[in-house]
Amino acid sequence: MICDSLPRTRLADLPTPLEEAPRLSDALGGPRIFIKRDDRSGLCFGGNKPRIFEYVFGDALQQGCDVMITPAGVQSNHLREVTAAANKLGVKSVIILCGGTGQEEPQGNLLLFHLLGAEIRYFDKDLHAYDDPELWAYIDSVKAEYEARGHKPYIVHFSLRSGLLGSAAHVTAAEELAAQFAEAGIEPDYLYVPSGSGVTASGYVLGFKHLGLRTRVMGICVLWPAEQVARDVERHANEVAEELGLATRVGPEDFSVTDKYISPGYGVMTPEVNEAIRLWATREGILLDPSYNGKTMAGIIDQIRSGALTREHTVVLVHTGGVPALFAQNRALIGE
Ligand SMILES: Cc1ncc(COP(=O)(O)O)c(C=O)c1O
Repeated sequence: MICDSLPRTRLADLPTPLEEAPRLSDALGGPRIFIKRDDRSGLCFGGNKPRIFEYVFGDALQQGCDVMITPAGVQSNHLREVTAAANKLGVKSVIILCGGTGQEEPQGNLLLFHLLGAEIRYFDKDLHAYDDPELWAYIDSVKAEYEARGHKPYIVHFSLRSGLLGSAAHVTAAEELAAQFAEAGIEPDYLYVPSGSGVTASGYVLGFKHLGLRTRVMGICVLWPAEQVARDVERHANEVAEELGLATRVGPEDFSVTDKYISPGYGVMTPEVNEAIRLWATREGILLDPSYNGKTMAGIIDQIRSGALTREHTVVLVHTGGVPALFAQNRALIGE
């Protein structure tokens, strides 16, 4: 395995299945469609995070850390899974809810933070203020508080070592997928990856290139502009390559990223996302989340309808999880 030199703690149910979706293909009159079921990767409702946290917690435990401190949004899948992983390994999880006030309806992921027993702190400022000095000052103050009590905290954030480790986790996922492609006798044209920070996509880009696969990674941005995500995909991939001593390097020609489907904003329900979710649910019995996979599938449908994807193509959607967020969008989903 490419990433064997990195410390790793087993948390996920792997390999996740690669399934074909023939009834969905028929309904769309489009390409062969496969889905990589990382929504079934284990922990608490699966997703891309159980893979990532195998390496992040591997690193934290090797350093003797016993408190994980993590900032993110009120409906964050990341915070749900970091807490589930911490619980499984017997370490503490302190989550910082950016943009949270404590007044939100306890639904979706927020409900699960409570049930999982996370220590919740509120940082009442912009949801995505991740490079905000005030947020980092707050994180440092929480860290200092735990250090003063004799603990060794670890900060989980993709701008820190967690980004490199998350990317490495998806190099391992790329190896897993390459073996499944070989077994299924396919070499898909495109792998669609919902992209926030670009960490997940970056691992697939590096992994496929290193293994010599011609499947092109298509990052569908859900939050940040394509230029920024493309830069970050390249940076994360090359940081991992360097750390592992691989000769392979990644450039902009090796993958695609589009922000065409971000509008009207992160996590905002649209008729296109609603249609994408209902198509998977009614044709294949699979639920997508609204913020990441629903949006990515809306992009795939647009590319089929515009003729960019045809019956000759084979595509894979990486289902990166996030399904609990559906319940926080109940009214929008039924059109109220
Ligand atoms: C369900 C889901 N899919 C995709 C992503 C995006 O992953 P990345 O930040 O690695 O691009 C996230 C990130 O939070 C997520 O929660």
